[in-house]
Amino acid sequence: MKILILHGPNLNLLGTREPEVYGSMTLNDINQKMIDLGKELGAEVICLQSNHEGALIDALHDARTWASGVIFNPGGFTHTSIALRDAISAIVIPVIEVHLSNVYAREEFRHTSFISAVCKGKVTGFGWRSYELGLRGLVGQVKG
Ligand code: DQA
Repeated sequence: MKILILHGPNLNLLGTREPEVYGSMTLNDINQKMIDLGKELGAEVICLQSNHEGALIDALHDARTWASGVIFNPGGFTHTSIALRDAISAIVIPVIEVHLSNVYAREEFRHTSFISAVCKGKVTGFGWRSYELGLRGLVGQVKG
């Protein structure tokens, strides 16, 4: 089983970006934890990050040819992108939406997600553990 962990814009700056909101772990730290957890769970985890909407869409399209599912933190595109929503709808594999922060405890514009309705599930507010919970849930579902 292969799982794509896809990170959207500005998440490459984790560790130094608003640590009081997003925590002090870097993206590499999170990716390494997820690769290790994947091994424990019997899944190969492949991690990608892009600041570009089109590159994220391409990664989702590509994932349908090799991945069993996707853990996706779309960053700010969560609240703006119909094109990402359409890409998720277009691929058959399950996508789990994750956010480090609790988006519902923040500004009102973060309360709207264009992608939640087309995702299999959503985890928000657990810091890096949102990825852990998402990965455990996704692998469990894929295994059935
Ligand atoms: C985020 C929440 C978004 O609102 C924000 O734009 C991000 C990060 C999170 O992980 O908490 O870039 O997706």
